[in-house]
Amino acid sequence: MSSSPAEVAAQYATERHLRTRIGTHERYSVGPGLEGTVDRLLALTGDEAVLDVGTGPGDFPGRLRAEGHQGRIVGLDFSAGMVERASGEYPDVEFQQGDAAALPFADASFDVVTARHMLYHVPDVAAALAEFRRVLKPGGRFLAVTNAEGYMAELWDAVAEAGQAEPAVNALLDSKAGSAVFSETQGERLVRAAFGNVQLDFIENALVFTTPEPVLAYLESMPALQNLAPDTLERARAALTQAVMARIQGGEWRVSKRVVFISARR
Ligand SMILES: C[S@@+](CC[C@H](N)C(=O)[O-])C[C@H]1O[C@@H](n2cnc3c(N)ncnc32)[C@H](O)[C@@H]1O
Repeated sequence: MSSSPAEVAAQYATERHLRTRIGTHERYSVGPGLEGTVDRLLALTGDEAVLDVGTGPGDFPGRLRAEGHQGRIVGLDFSAGMVERASGEYPDVEFQQGDAAALPFADASFDVVTARHMLYHVPDVAAALAEFRRVLKPGGRFLAVTNAEGYMAELWDAVAEAGQAEPAVNALLDSKAGSAVFSETQGERLVRAAFGNVQLDFIENALVFTTPEPVLAYLESMPALQNLAPDTLERARAALTQAVMARIQGGEWRVSKRVVFISARR
């Protein structure tokens, strides 16, 4: 794990940086969408009690409610700032602060537990999965969404190249290593160990960029570039811009994104 709990807490103290990354995915993605796949796999009737762990700004629970879900919906996050933000944005959803590895809920409270792009931040994934299973009713369903191996490989190649010109850029590669700790390989093994069953589904899509600015904004939203001295940051920007421009070459640059959906039933 490349990020300590304190670093994860600092990174998600507010939604600002995460919102930059979510916005990049919303604007520049092509190919099958993540939300449609989540909906297809969950096939909710609207009555289920749903817990979304690591909910961030709460967009997923908010969307479920807006689309007419009648059952209980709870969004839980470690970050008080996220919980405050989500509660203000989606007053019809219940939000709570808490840790995935010590859920503040009774046994068998939920029909569905989701953990979207968060398990790679959790130091003890097995403990979190045991908690997800504990709060699920018998027959209840778990769904994790996470980055598959090779996620954004083209972006990380560009970052590694820029790192040769300005070594401070190499700290960004920790984000790549960080998300790799819960991809399909470990995910399948850990979820099978926790639930005794597992199903994997994948989507292949991509980010398509025609200018370097959104790529730079995306990378600057990551913790690695946030505490650099101004002159180092300028050199990092210049090196990254050069590596990205060399790939766009006046046309389009495609950064592939393979996402894995890991499901299990209690
Ligand atoms: C990458 S964001 C994902 C947010 C949202 N699920 C999404 O897909 O947009 C990860 C979130 O997990 C939260 N998180 C990290 N570790 C956690 C833990 N142990 N328990 C609960 N939430 C955690 C962070 O605070 C952050 O809001």
